[in-house]
Amino acid sequence: MAGSRENWGSRIGIILAVAGSAVGLGNFLRFPTQVVANGGGAFMIPYFIAFLFLGIPIAFAEWTLGRYGGQYGRGSAPGVFYVVSRSSWAKYLGIFGLFVPLVINFYYLIIESWCLAYSGFSLLGWLNNITNPSDMKDVLLEFQGINPTRQLGSIPWSLIFFLVAFLINYWIVSRGIVAGIERLNKICMPLLLVLAIFLTVRVLSLGTPNPSLPDQNVVNGLGFLWNPDFSKLANVDVWIAAAGQIFFTLSVGMGAILAYSSYLKKNDDVAHSALSSSATNELAEVVLGGSIIIPAAFIFLGAVGAQEVAQSGSFNLGFVTMPLIFNKLPLSPLIGFSWFFLLFLAGLTSSVSLIQPILTFLQDELNLTRQKATLLVGGVTLAVALGVKTTLALGTLDELDFWGGTFLPVVSGLVMIWIFGWVFGARQGLEELNRGSLIKIPKIFEYIIKYVTPIYLLIMLVLWARKNIPMITMSAITDPKVWWATLYTRAGMILLGVALLIAIYFAGKHYGNIKKLDDETDPS
Ligand code: PHE
Repeated sequence: MAGSRENWGSRIGIILAVAGSAVGLGNFLRFPTQVVANGGGAFMIPYFIAFLFLGIPIAFAEWTLGRYGGQYGRGSAPGVFYVVSRSSWAKYLGIFGLFVPLVINFYYLIIESWCLAYSGFSLLGWLNNITNPSDMKDVLLEFQGINPTRQLGSIPWSLIFFLVAFLINYWIVSRGIVAGIERLNKICMPLLLVLAIFLTVRVLSLGTPNPSLPDQNVVNGLGFLWNPDFSKLANVDVWIAAAGQIFFTLSVGMGAILAYSSYLKKNDDVAHSALSSSATNELAEVVLGGSIIIPAAFIFLGAVGAQEVAQSGSFNLGFVTMPLIFNKLPLSPLIGFSWFFLLFLAGLTSSVSLIQPILTFLQDELNLTRQKATLLVGGVTLAVALGVKTTLALGTLDELDFWGGTFLPVVSGLVMIWIFGWVFGARQGLEELNRGSLIKIPKIFEYIIKYVTPIYLLIMLVLWARKNIPMITMSAITDPKVWWATLYTRAGMILLGVALLIAIYFAGKHYGNIKKLDDETDPS
């Protein structure tokens, strides 16, 4: 099997795929609410510092390690770390590169399916008749399984759309890298950009829709989001939030990019591709993500109203406030469809990248065929995600997001940059990064990768732990139902971790010695 790994069909293919992984729900829902909560334009200072000193170096590390591992027939964190270190303890550190994407995949798919459902409902005009915020909220609660209000009749739409989204995802990954993931991104990424630009233009051309409220206009809407409150920068939480957003939005440090780049050829460019896909994500996040929901909410609800919904969470903003706002505009079904379909495409191109790392692991290291690996991962995901979907009211999704989406990515990123900067070696790493590249990354990055990024991450981790650890103890939970649900969720995560450790123990056993795929001695 080791000799039969695929390669990307084109350079633009992998750039779009990594950009597709990066551009996700994080860009259009999570980012704008983070900006409002963390000092408006002032947030961009810690954000860009984190982008330069965490996001970019880890992206370089991950792209380079992935391509390197691919030369040895390995593209998952355990396999790549094993090849790089030539010792078997390192492969266990690769567990984060499997665990994190898998856990995010369990809940991301659920949210993605809401987007698909809502895009259908918008197009059919079903949301058009809802003018009352509490009715719109009921539809969302029904979807979240929190309160089955039967707003949309007795057909279980939420389950149906979940299954559809699930099948689309697993159908795509079952087709492999070129026919599945590359093709998807080549079609969906341009479409996604067109939809996002369309919505941005629509919001920015709203002017002053209500002449009796002249202050609620586009310029003030943008000001509401971007006017800096520098006093917030003294708060470490803002710095932690910025670092967290960079990790989540760029999809770095968690094994997704590693898997993708392992399907590159030996001399394919990585440095320029890493920068291009990161830049695409930032454009989609700061320019497009920053111009849609918050300015629109401000224009229609004013500063106080926008602040209120933004604080009540990005789902309320995206799924309750936005459709209500669209209903005030001409052609609302079309605009609503554009918004939710944009979110669905952004979600889909991200969620396939969350599934790929574990598939790559099962294929490379345990010799499973792609079909068997897809069936196994799909089966587990279906069971777990349905469990999460039916227990949302008990906070199971938030629990998974806390560990898989917030805390462990930083740990995983730290392991990744340490393996690259210290085990592989920053100097050799930079050489490998620059090999075959269209641009040359300057030597200063050797020091950034070796010292600045790991120290920065360690500081963030310590600050984060100091703030959060008191809140995560089981005794902090008062509601008995939530207590049990949290216990099950945590036990489930531990079980998954143990299962992965066992799998990693058996990983690569069939290879014997570490060999390059194109070595003449390679038996395959
Ligand atoms: N980057 C994605 C987003 O912004 C989320 C994601 C994280 C996807 C990690 C893949 C890996 O929504």
